[in-house]
Amino acid sequence: MNLFLQPRARPVVIAHRGSSAHAPENTLAAFQLAAEQGADAIELDVDLTRDGHVVVMHDATIDRTTDGHGRVGDLTLEEIRRADAGAWRDAAFRGERVPLLEEVFAAVGQRLLINVEIKGMALRGNGLEAKVAALIEKHKLIDRVILSSFNPLALRRLKHVNARLACGLLYAPDLPIFLRDAWLAPLIPQLNARHPQHAQVNKARVDQFHAQGLTVNVWTVNQADLVRVMAQAGVDGIIGDDPVLLREALEPSAGVFDL
Ligand code: G3P
Ligand code: MG
Repeated sequence: MNLFLQPRARPVVIAHRGSSAHAPENTLAAFQLAAEQGADAIELDVDLTRDGHVVVMHDATIDRTTDGHGRVGDLTLEEIRRADAGAWRDAAFRGERVPLLEEVFAAVGQRLLINVEIKGMALRGNGLEAKVAALIEKHKLIDRVILSSFNPLALRRLKHVNARLACGLLYAPDLPIFLRDAWLAPLIPQLNARHPQHAQVNKARVDQFHAQGLTVNVWTVNQADLVRVMAQAGVDGIIGDDPVLLREALEPSAGVFDL
């Protein structure tokens, strides 16, 4: 069974874009640091290069998180790899490169669970989902990866490639109404999880999702008191930038589980 979908004594600690509070987001340095800081899992974002490689990148362009320029889909892997993905954050991280999803799987796939977020709201797929599914199968990580997307059609495409892939639908209060509260969830066969923004859940809603057999992972939680509120609401996973803060807020001594 997929490890994200198993009931646990406390919520799974999921480092958002790696340990992005302490390292440049979506780099191997951020993922390795998350493991060292005691995260159970990492969240990362993926997109497709012009020449068809699956790379880890949040934005549609590489401009904010590297010293390069251009849209991921307009650049080749070689062009993206020339860019430095660490120095913008801190000189200590100079030399970090934009990783391939495959490199992350090889580096931390056996140590950490991985939430792969599929970027892009296109109605028609560009082959990204099938490539991600093939990499998960190649690295034998089907029970250690959960896929998520704000695009319900991306998750539908994944389930059509392999219905065993665990999938969680992302949604947020500031989206158009049909995406704001997962209205299109019925388009996804055998959906496994909901990934709401933290303000969209309370204990009653979490109980309702659990009664429907759905796992609930919330994002992006960066304050200790909010971590505790989410834990008390009964969520299964908490995505946040700082795994140290998440771990400390979830310690039994912090009063989360003594109700
Ligand atoms: O998966 C949770 C979160 O990463 C969704 O928003 O923009 O940070 O990818 P974003
Ligand atoms: Mg994300």
